[in-house]
Amino acid sequence: MKNLNLFILPVVVFLTITTVINGGITSEYVRQAQPSVEMPLETFPSPPGYNVPEQVHLTQGDHDGRAMIVSWVTPLNLAGSNVVTYWMVVNSSTSTNSSDVKMAKKKAHGSTSSYRFYDYTSGYLHHANIKGLEYNTTYIYEVGSDQSVRQFNFTTPPAVGPDVPYTFGIIGDLGQTYASNETLYHYSNPKGQAVLFAGDLSYADDHPNHDQRKWDTFGKFLEPCAAYQPFIYAAGNHEIDFAPEIGEPHPFKPYMHRYPNAYKASGSISPLWYSVRRGPAHIIVLSSYSAYGKYTPQYLWLQQELKNVNREETPWLIVMVHSPWYNSNNYHFMEGESMRIMFESWFVNSKVDLVLSGHVHAYERSERVSNIKYNITNGLSTPVKDPNAPIYITIGDGGNIEGIANSFTDPQPSYSAYREASFGHAVLEIHNRTHALYTWHRNQDNEPVAADSFIVRNRYNLLDDERI
Ligand SMILES: [Fe+2]
Repeated sequence: MKNLNLFILPVVVFLTITTVINGGITSEYVRQAQPSVEMPLETFPSPPGYNVPEQVHLTQGDHDGRAMIVSWVTPLNLAGSNVVTYWMVVNSSTSTNSSDVKMAKKKAHGSTSSYRFYDYTSGYLHHANIKGLEYNTTYIYEVGSDQSVRQFNFTTPPAVGPDVPYTFGIIGDLGQTYASNETLYHYSNPKGQAVLFAGDLSYADDHPNHDQRKWDTFGKFLEPCAAYQPFIYAAGNHEIDFAPEIGEPHPFKPYMHRYPNAYKASGSISPLWYSVRRGPAHIIVLSSYSAYGKYTPQYLWLQQELKNVNREETPWLIVMVHSPWYNSNNYHFMEGESMRIMFESWFVNSKVDLVLSGHVHAYERSERVSNIKYNITNGLSTPVKDPNAPIYITIGDGGNIEGIANSFTDPQPSYSAYREASFGHAVLEIHNRTHALYTWHRNQDNEPVAADSFIVRNRYNLLDDERI
């Protein structure tokens, strides 16, 4: 509670400012219209040396945070190219024998694949799942062999539990422009311990023939952050890479080769929808671009998954889905509507805390609203305030090549609490089973400045008299 008190005061002051203007804020901050200029291929040379690993990134390798998938790429597939060596960092206060550290080194062997896309052949993509890790522990890991070794580190989360503090970064629609670089720079203190990535990674498909070299440069761009903390990804439309006109009819081919996850650990049949538990949070990832109608695999999985959530163990229930359900921007307006109709009542009944989306290249936060009373004859199509409803965050403002989405609907609808056409990122600091602090940071501000901020009251642990 001591930590909580430290942040309550400045936030209360901020909330006082924001809530007085109830009914929604369209930020007066006007970002200068300028194109998002992509960093050229030459910005990201491969690291020097013979068969040196590159594009190193991490994601959670099991359901509860005791495994980590390490991914990397090598130009050649030599003996040892697919091996990750790792060891626990031993606190000097508990061990003075340096040989203990050396003896603790272990190896994990990865899978290796390569894919072709039009006229491009990928390097060798290695994915090794390190299992049986200790909670709340820092590990050093190395990929490569002989003189080509590169060394990184990561820290595992605390054991799943209701009152373990944990901080997530939230990023979406990043791409690889100079604006993307600002976003990652502003996040990469790093402010969080893991990143929830709301989809649309490289934007390779915005280039002729889906230039796959852009997937490589994106991997290099992300490495300084993603090699040190896991990213939990949702797939966006820019991951589809469906291009039958150039002989590439298999959706998600590059993405699924490069960004695997442990979907089977959550009973899913597809890496496009899955869940992980991390500290106090249960994260459900859905796919806007896979079938979700009644009887489909994703529908049936989500139906069961919501029953599997144990809010006594993980009080924070967060859903990530690329296409937003509550978005008052003219760009992609109502694209998420059919999925909202399918699942919104489930989210309300399950008291989902937050829904994180991207897709729209601006920032928006909703009120707690629902629109679940509508049927085809009653005409009840207006969202209403609902204390059991999630807050919907649209965070597609990572800074990609397509630029900012600066055309909001007018007037601002009642469900929209705050919206602004600026690039940025967000941070969710979960403090205990009842409170979290959410902040959104626009790139133009200094790092400590939060342009939008509020205390998130957990929906499951909300007392009845606290419901508004
Ligand atoms: Fe998108």
